[in-house]
Amino acid sequence: MKAKKAVSLLLATVLAATMLTGCGGGRGTEETDQTDETPDDAGEEKPDDADAEGEESEDEETGETPSAEGGIVGVALPWLGTQNWAEAEVMFKEQLEAAGYEAIIQAADQKVPQQQQQIESMIENGAQVIVVGPVDGSQLGSVLEKAKDAGVYVIGYDRLLENTTGVDGIVQFGSVKTGELQAEALLQGLKEQKGEAPYNIELFGGGPADPNAPNFFTGAMSVLQPLIDDGTLVVVSGQTDFTQCATADWDNSKAQSRMDAILAGNYSDIEIDGVLSPNDGIARAIITSCENAGQPIPVVSGLDAENESVEWVWSGRQYSTVAKPTNALVEETVSIINSLLSGSGMPETDVTANNGMIDVPVYELPPVVVTKDNAKEVFADDPDRLALLKD
Ligand code: BGC
Repeated sequence: MKAKKAVSLLLATVLAATMLTGCGGGRGTEETDQTDETPDDAGEEKPDDADAEGEESEDEETGETPSAEGGIVGVALPWLGTQNWAEAEVMFKEQLEAAGYEAIIQAADQKVPQQQQQIESMIENGAQVIVVGPVDGSQLGSVLEKAKDAGVYVIGYDRLLENTTGVDGIVQFGSVKTGELQAEALLQGLKEQKGEAPYNIELFGGGPADPNAPNFFTGAMSVLQPLIDDGTLVVVSGQTDFTQCATADWDNSKAQSRMDAILAGNYSDIEIDGVLSPNDGIARAIITSCENAGQPIPVVSGLDAENESVEWVWSGRQYSTVAKPTNALVEETVSIINSLLSGSGMPETDVTANNGMIDVPVYELPPVVVTKDNAKEVFADDPDRLALLKD
């Protein structure tokens, strides 16, 4: 332990010296080759095993908790308004500290300027890696270029970082795939619960600033459009463009108002059979609107496996959700950070996404549909959600 501490102290000193000489960050160079496996900072060492296991790291001599031996990591989240982001805040703190890093975690309350300032201050505070879930994927270009120039690695978390060269990789669940799963679940539910076609449906999208939202919608429409074209599905309101269907800021109450207006204007003497919803909060708003209007509950899709929606799926009030476990995404991100800060560069991946300026390496995890039928299976290793499935 003592020997490890000495090495760590040496590393911390070298690191501090590096920061003072102006390199500041983890990459130690302004140049980033996306595919380079051995960047210039290859001399740095990975946090030792004791850190990775979360062993108590209080300094024996001074009694103070030393700043993390592994470096400083910033995490900029867009907001905490859905369960996945609230979980990310907690899990990043736990997992980064357990791996020996000092974590600076901030959420931006859906405000772009606030997020830009938060990232600026992470750079100023010596972050070597900044993980970003953007409020608006295309509005961080200049602050991320600044991070790049300061030698800081930038990882996009859950959402793509667009129109910037200041990004080293993206960690996310397949976003087009997510939309396909939502649409397939909607169709399956309609067949199971609403008799023979045609089916009256409506379409909802997420916040237009979030690059995931158009992707979810595109994935869903690749499944639904042919069935709209052949008359199996009827979008009674006629609103089928993403711009018409999007929900500004992922705001559930805006979705509920839109559903109220659609029902009042189009469904006074017919029943609505199904609704494509981009996430669970919006799904519950849609279902509540239909209940208030005296409609039978339509088949509604979702996303996030939020606790409340897991209960609604289990009780039959919401047809489906899609699980994209935050824990797994945070673990994947921390393992990339370990690789970067130990000098091993970005791990290999075959997937890239063009962000408008460069092809960014993407580390993709698979989303999984959840209905009442498979919920127990999907949450077999998630005791908290499993506990919500009460017989
Ligand atoms: C995330 C979803 C979330 C939504 C709203 C999306 O980018 O992928 O999990 O529900 O943002 O916060």
